[in-house]
Amino acid sequence: MTDIDWDALRRVAIEATTRAYVPYSHYPVGAAALATDGRVVAGCNVENAGYGVTLCAECGLVSDLVYSGGGQLVAFLCVNKDGETIMPCGRCRQLLFEHAAPGMLLETVSGVRTIDEVLPDAFGPRDLEQVR
Ligand code: THU
Repeated sequence: MTDIDWDALRRVAIEATTRAYVPYSHYPVGAAALATDGRVVAGCNVENAGYGVTLCAECGLVSDLVYSGGGQLVAFLCVNKDGETIMPCGRCRQLLFEHAAPGMLLETVSGVRTIDEVLPDAFGPRDLEQVR
């Protein structure tokens, strides 16, 4: 999978921001990604009166990936309501790492980066296997 239509992913992510539930921060986020089989998955943030329970847009996106057939993510981006690229928060980088195809690309505020660049030396499933 080499051809990544970043503009198409951005359009999906922008549309996702319009579905966000953000009564507390008023900061809609939309995320979109391409899966290994060519599927596009997406998510928006869903806040909660228990602020810490808030679901980032990436949570919805990973749920969409798994629910719609699984696979791995090959390209990802997330945007604010103005369609500007934002960085996935630290927790969501960890979340994405688990479902990333090797070398997954992210469009970031400093250009296209790999998942390993935005989450170096990540802790992951292999670390758990090592002590079994
Ligand atoms: N947010 C996301 O959805 N993804 C991120 O990676 C960063 C933050 C949301 C959570 C909250 O609803 C709002 O942005 C403000 O933090």
